[in-house]
Amino acid sequence: MSTKKVIKLGNPLLRLVSQPISEQDYGTKQLHSWADELFHHMKLEKGLGLAAPQIGLNKRIIVFGMEKHPIHVALEPIPFTVLCNPSFQPITDEMYEDYEGCLSVGELRGKVPRYKTIRYQGFDLAGRMIEREASNLHARVIQHELDHLDGIIFLDRIVNHHSLGFYDELVLSGAFSSPPIK
Ligand code: NI
Repeated sequence: MSTKKVIKLGNPLLRLVSQPISEQDYGTKQLHSWADELFHHMKLEKGLGLAAPQIGLNKRIIVFGMEKHPIHVALEPIPFTVLCNPSFQPITDEMYEDYEGCLSVGELRGKVPRYKTIRYQGFDLAGRMIEREASNLHARVIQHELDHLDGIIFLDRIVNHHSLGFYDELVLSGAFSSPPIK
């Protein structure tokens, strides 16, 4: 089924600004197959989200979602969602740092400041508007994936560079209280 793969940092396609989905794209087989492709890779590589540029597709589409975590049960599940032409606004100025990773970055994790509570919106595959409020991990995933559509990688947003490390080392050092997103 899959013809694409997740591309890695260094590939210039990750640094482009993606193009909006146009009105005539909604409801098409093409749009559905792009979304299928994104979910396929996200689930295969156990990510919480994936953005179209990560499979080399210069389109403003993101997918994300998480089932109830078997160990970290306090984490709220995130509905599995496709969003075309997404946008967000912070609801308050409050930001917090937490670890992030990225399927295009491999085993590196680092602490990124993000807005804690946001309102986000976008369109589903049929062009119907989706609008939600989100906080914490859910809000973080949205901000991370939306950045990809503008060619921004989480590494660009790290302020405390001493937080940067390889997953295995950070686990050994006890850095994680809950699993970092990727
Ligand atoms: Ni990413």
